[in-house]
Amino acid sequence: MLPVILLSYITLSVAAPGCDPDKVAITGGEYRLTNGTHIGSRVEYTCPEGKYPHPAYSRECQSNGQWKNEKVRAECRVVQCPRPVQFEHGEFFPRKPRYFVGDVLQFECWAGFHMYGPENRTCQANGKWSGEETKCDNNVGDCPNPGIPIGATKVGTSYQSGDTVTYECQRGLRMFGSKERTCMKNKRWSGAEPSCRFWYTYDTPPEVAQTFSASISEIIEASDLDKVEERNIFRVRRDGDMNIFIVIDTSRSVGKRNFETAKEASIVFIEKMASFDFTLRYGVISYASFVKPIVRLSDEDSTDAEAVIKKIQTFQYSEHEDKTGTNTQGGLREVFNMLSLQQHRDPKKFLEKRNVILLMTDGKHNDGGDPTVEVKRIRELLDIRDDNDREDYLDIYVFGIGDDIDEEHINDLASKKDPEKHVFKTESVDRMREAFDEMLDEAEVLQRCGLSKEPSKDEGVEVTYPWIAKITISRPGSEERCKGSIVSKSFILTAAHCFHLDEELHHITVRVGDRSLKVKSLYRHDKYDPLGKRDKMVEKSFDYDLALIELGERIQYSRKVRPICLPCTTGTSWALKQRGIAVTCSDHEKTLLSSGLVRAMFVAEERERQYEGKNVLIKRGNKRLTCLEDAKKLEKFQNIPDIKDLITDNFFCTGGTEPEVDPQTCKDDAGGPLIVRFRQRYVQVGVISWGTINSCAGTKRRPGLVPPLSRDFHTDLFRVSDWLKNKLKELEFLN
Ligand SMILES: *[C@@H]1O[C@H](CO)[C@@H](O)[C@H](O)[C@H]1NC(C)=O
Ligand SMILES: *[C@@H]1O[C@H](CO)[C@@H](O)[C@H](O)[C@H]1NC(C)=O
Repeated sequence: MLPVILLSYITLSVAAPGCDPDKVAITGGEYRLTNGTHIGSRVEYTCPEGKYPHPAYSRECQSNGQWKNEKVRAECRVVQCPRPVQFEHGEFFPRKPRYFVGDVLQFECWAGFHMYGPENRTCQANGKWSGEETKCDNNVGDCPNPGIPIGATKVGTSYQSGDTVTYECQRGLRMFGSKERTCMKNKRWSGAEPSCRFWYTYDTPPEVAQTFSASISEIIEASDLDKVEERNIFRVRRDGDMNIFIVIDTSRSVGKRNFETAKEASIVFIEKMASFDFTLRYGVISYASFVKPIVRLSDEDSTDAEAVIKKIQTFQYSEHEDKTGTNTQGGLREVFNMLSLQQHRDPKKFLEKRNVILLMTDGKHNDGGDPTVEVKRIRELLDIRDDNDREDYLDIYVFGIGDDIDEEHINDLASKKDPEKHVFKTESVDRMREAFDEMLDEAEVLQRCGLSKEPSKDEGVEVTYPWIAKITISRPGSEERCKGSIVSKSFILTAAHCFHLDEELHHITVRVGDRSLKVKSLYRHDKYDPLGKRDKMVEKSFDYDLALIELGERIQYSRKVRPICLPCTTGTSWALKQRGIAVTCSDHEKTLLSSGLVRAMFVAEERERQYEGKNVLIKRGNKRLTCLEDAKKLEKFQNIPDIKDLITDNFFCTGGTEPEVDPQTCKDDAGGPLIVRFRQRYVQVGVISWGTINSCAGTKRRPGLVPPLSRDFHTDLFRVSDWLKNKLKELEFLN
């Protein structure tokens, strides 16, 4: 008997000041302790893929000597995905009470409804269904069907301008995104698409990297381009183009290790941002019960990435003496204060700067009151109202860190903008860091279509027109030139008439940037047939004058060489700020070609490598009829009975002298893009094809000598988008 008593006596005396070590284990998984079984230590659980720790990712040894919630034994449980409860205008199957990892849901739309989004969705190991929401729509509403996220119910089924829908997640699920959305006058829904998640659902690093990058690179590009218009580049640079606030929760619920990783993640973020060619001003704030600014916006070196990183590195977790509270409101109030000071110094410039806040928190604020109050004040300071189109000036991203995140609170703080995501929750802070490592490759930003830069000191004008390709056809005894546009890494879009029908590919070279590339294939539009309308007295028909050149090698994108936007692609939806699953080709058309006279441009090269944008007006509707009438007046077309056989509906018309004198296109311009600019993005709507009167002197336009009857015609890309979609597998086209 004696030895047993002795043993238990010893165990008791050692374990006395902490929590019971027998109560930390998890069935089916692993755990680690942050400070043994001492009071204040945390146990962190991990489970194999497809399982999650129940009842929580971690628990703390409380001052009463008990693990939090210690009566519930920890175990790894199988991950489920939310169950669909409502699906509008269609069916889904199989119908089951529960869905586990690997289960596939299949959707079908009723007759008369078109499906947007995937037909099949798979339950993934992180508790989310793969892909975007599936929706069925018959497009009778002003706004598209906003859809019902899996796990939610929706109230409101009318989608006319001014209508509102509200969402509710099923019991046990938490909502990210907007609970209520209104169909706005611009035919888009307010807020952000909601989703319903279990408490253990998280975003994987690639998901975070992709969605966060997409959102932030839009901001970067947009703000970079704002600067171009500014002209006085030096001043703007020194001043900083954009404010970035990094606000880190240092409270004990977040933990020291998480805090260190959050610091590392911020540094990764700052390094990535520093690789872009523009200046940012940083504010970095840490908070627990109290707020500690690490970098102030007003600091001399707050635009110096290295100095900012150094200050973050040297900031210690221990600098917050009192870590018991989580004063998120205080953290955001500091952002407000820094902004107020900046406003005070230069009120005008202040309103021109964009602002990004990255808030890393577990969302459990318990000190200092409701942080959404500060978000409201910041919005007021930046003069952002529902009705003044200034939403672009503030983006608040919230990253859930720590083990037990309060989803509702972090969702309340994040910006809600369609189609972007501003709230993320990763499995651990390490995963968030990983996501930051993966995000924002320069290569990814370069892929964004239709961008153009102002040349810096040692750059040529190519950066302003980086999507122009020069095509040379060197046949024995003759040489011809055309232009084209870079539409993807392997394809150049140009005009079919540039080539003979039996053209030998080795005669063609394509020049992009400083490189000459060989041609692998040449595809003319199937309906291009120059001699096919002789019976209608059309000597040479340019109908469907369109060709794609497939290059022998893939283009490396750079500042000088990058793609233009094509209609009906998702890249263009981003450029037009229309991304969302229900955006259609005709939405692009309505946005880009919104009136009878559309301001457009083409790029001329009157002297070698001296590109120059030329403004023209696309004549549409009744104004286009004049183009046909003017052509009829020309002698060479007198014997064509129906001019519409020559000028089919597949052409855009520019040129002439009414209401403005449009510069003419010359021979070497053919195949080049006809471009419509939307804000600072360039979308190609046509391919330069032919003109009625050539008054160019070789490749040069003669100033002041535009004959009133002269017209130029361009192949309308909206009318050939099916052909493009079929050929350009590298690009993502809309449904
Ligand atoms: C671990 O717990 C002991 C006992 O409570 C304490 O003295 C020590 O400071 C703790 N260590 C850390 C890193 O928190
Ligand atoms: C969806 O799943 C069904 C059944 O497995 C399959 O027949 C169908 O091809 C899938 N659809 C797509 C688009 O993958």
